[in-house]
Amino acid sequence: MTALELDAVAKHYTTGGEIVRAVDGVSLTVLPGEIVALYGPSGSGKTTLLELAAGTQTPDRGTVRFGGVDLATLSYADAASYRRSLGFVFQRFYLHPGTSALDNAAMKLLFAGWTPRRAKLHAMEWLKRVGLEKRARHTPSKLSMGEQQRVVIARALAGEPKLILADEPTASLDTERGRATLALLSGICHERGVGMLLATHDPDAAAFADRVCDLRDGVLTERADHLPADRGPDVARA
Ligand SMILES: Nc1ncnc2c1ncn2[C@@H]1O[C@H](COP(=O)(O)OP(=O)(O)OP(=O)(O)O)[C@@H](O)[C@H]1O
Ligand SMILES: [Mg+2]
Repeated sequence: MTALELDAVAKHYTTGGEIVRAVDGVSLTVLPGEIVALYGPSGSGKTTLLELAAGTQTPDRGTVRFGGVDLATLSYADAASYRRSLGFVFQRFYLHPGTSALDNAAMKLLFAGWTPRRAKLHAMEWLKRVGLEKRARHTPSKLSMGEQQRVVIARALAGEPKLILADEPTASLDTERGRATLALLSGICHERGVGMLLATHDPDAAAFADRVCDLRDGVLTERADHLPADRGPDVARA
């Protein structure tokens, strides 16, 4: 099973002789199709945890496993291949400025060696899925912030990721667009069985998760009383 498992993971930084325990003994599992929020204020260790999950940082202690494989045991090439199998959605969009929405959405597939025609057909399907087929020829500067984030979502999903790592994905969007974007992203994750680790300091964004984990000074506590936003009313009626 392609679950992400963090087991007693710790990571510290030393700056100017001072030790910062950015992540301090975190254990966490994200199952396929499950959305887990890392909810905490600035500096609580959210981005560091996502980097540990992506294998771009190595833990001082503990293990990070994906599909049962300890990331610390992967060769350089296998670690790169693991990262390519992930979908990244960040606060900043990192779209190529001079390139159309379609080419941006197809970028990952082109790098993966797909023919341009096949990559664009597949990317177009994802642009349709996020409601942007009429904007496919537009460059990012001609798109609204919400539309740009939808291109990022199309790009992430077009690569058929095994897991999505999202770092403050709605921080550049207003409340309504933030909600709409997360409703779209979480709906696709549930429908496709793709897990998502969602770092946020925004309670509105955390409400879209199936589970919310509070992060404070690198220490994680899972909330027992959370009702996901899109399922709350049904649960309440039941
Ligand atoms: N490269 C680094 N060198 C030294 N300290 C770092 C480094 N990266 C992060 N830190 C420190 O580790 C702690 C956790 O940082 P991290 O970026 O993971 O927090 P965050 O929850 O993502 O914050 P934000 O919401 O502001 O993005 C902070 O105290 C930060 O100052
Ligand atoms: Mg951060």
